[in-house]
Amino acid sequence: MQKLLDLISKEVMEAFAANGYDGKYGKATLSNRPDLCEYQCNGALAAAKEYRCAPLKIAESVAKSLKGNPMFASVESVKPGFLNLVLALDFLAGYLKEMAADEERLGCEKCKAPKTIMIDYGGPNVAKPLHVGHLRSAIIGESVKRLGKFMGHSVIGDVHLGDWGLQMGLIITELRERKPGLVYFDEGYQGEYPKEPPFTISELEEIYPSASAKSKEDGAYKEEAMQATYELQHGRKGYQALLGHILDVSLNDLKRNYENLSVSFELWKGESDAQPYIPDMVRKMKQDGFAYLSDGALVVDVKEDTDTKEVPPCMILKSDGASLYNTTDLATIVWRMKDYRPDEIIYVVDKRQELYFTQVFRCARKTGLVEPGTELKFLGFGTMNGKDGKPFKTREGGVMRLEYLVSGINEEMYKKITDNHTVEEEEARKTAKIVALSAIKYGDLSNQASKDYVFDIDRFTSFEGNTGPYILYTIVRIKSILKKYQAEKAMPEGAGILPARSDSEKALMLEISKFNGMMENAYEETAPHKVCSYIYDLANAFNHFYHETKIMAEPDEMQQAGYIKLLELTKRALEICIDILGFEAPERM
Ligand code: ARG
Repeated sequence: MQKLLDLISKEVMEAFAANGYDGKYGKATLSNRPDLCEYQCNGALAAAKEYRCAPLKIAESVAKSLKGNPMFASVESVKPGFLNLVLALDFLAGYLKEMAADEERLGCEKCKAPKTIMIDYGGPNVAKPLHVGHLRSAIIGESVKRLGKFMGHSVIGDVHLGDWGLQMGLIITELRERKPGLVYFDEGYQGEYPKEPPFTISELEEIYPSASAKSKEDGAYKEEAMQATYELQHGRKGYQALLGHILDVSLNDLKRNYENLSVSFELWKGESDAQPYIPDMVRKMKQDGFAYLSDGALVVDVKEDTDTKEVPPCMILKSDGASLYNTTDLATIVWRMKDYRPDEIIYVVDKRQELYFTQVFRCARKTGLVEPGTELKFLGFGTMNGKDGKPFKTREGGVMRLEYLVSGINEEMYKKITDNHTVEEEEARKTAKIVALSAIKYGDLSNQASKDYVFDIDRFTSFEGNTGPYILYTIVRIKSILKKYQAEKAMPEGAGILPARSDSEKALMLEISKFNGMMENAYEETAPHKVCSYIYDLANAFNHFYHETKIMAEPDEMQQAGYIKLLELTKRALEICIDILGFEAPERM
């Protein structure tokens, strides 16, 4: 279905052409004076320069041509040459009816040339608990993925586990200290390794921080961990078997955590999966003359003449031959190209890694790891701060575990829900979880991703204002009216959305009609916050209409059915949007 704005522009462009002016001047925009009109066109001002005549004269002649056009209730030319457009009620109702007929997509067409897009998000580190820093990547990445899928692309989410760095060597070293008798440490061992992991998740989560603390004080211990990392990376069997156990135990825990956030991944690949591709990649980079030794390390220059800031060389291998974060990211591009040949790879990572990704992308391009047609995109997000404006911490000032943050908000929500009315324990718990997730996700996604934001639990969990719970509350309100209607009446034959009878109804209809344009734009700009602002405006317009309109008491059967159809469409638009944002609405709250 065509975007409403395009349909309007088409009419105005034709009117410009009919008066002998270039049609391009007829492009319409949303009005920036909603008190005067709904849409506007400022093209006469620009046309006046080309045709050397008064802008108002041009606007007047265009307005005259548009008189009687069924799309508009009024077209006015005003000084110095604006065209103020007000849509006809019939036309708007017709547009919405067409939207409603397409229940799945509300007239938002899938893109004509679907792409294969890989999204690198989540990025948890194995054996370390998820902390709030991982929250944003998961929430934003999931939403960008759903948005891409809705627009008809084939989108593959890859969690890109951090499972190959020094943290692995640290865990191995600490484990050896504690349980030196394990077969994994016996280099002469030939048999099969046990299937049962030699630790539980809680042990694992305790092992890493204590190893990390020790390595900071004890140089020899750190040496040992680095050696273990090197040996793991160079194929020591016992260590690789241990890595397998660490992954298994850790993945179960991670999957549970992501499931609680309604975040899922098509691929559970990690840095370690890139290892097999490193030797060939390095050989080729050397052979082609891109990689050279600098202070013992292997590097590729990536600076460009137009740089205003220094972009240091991309380091491929450390002087001891060990691979780095860069190495795995580059080798990951190798297998992604080989297995999926994506048109785009989007990285949803903390914006403090921007320079790093500039280096990686340039290196990948320069050395030919990616084809020219493949776009590498960095979607950097800002920091989630506490109310004090500093990175979010626990009350004691430590790193907040994601699990605790989520359960804290669930608890808060549960209190709110049970405060005012009696709800059954089980239902209240379930509802609290659903609403809490909307609070967290909407609180995050309603900000432009690149900006820092304050994680304000009181504000995010409020049922009023620009929040997830407010959106859900609106959907629940619609659901309850629809239920009531269904219980009392049968939808009459031939019912459909009717021309608006009040300003608030027309305002609601105008908000709804922006759906397909908003969705395309949110996708193009990789901007879930645009979906949020659409549903916030829509929810406001609906609630305003609801307060001004007696829906259940409407005596005219067809008119009432028309309202119900409008409510259904509103609900559908809200539901599609929250699904893209990654949460859902309860039946009651
Ligand atoms: N594991 C990393 C971290 O916790 C994030 C990974 C981001 N993705 C990537 N391809 N480097 O900081």
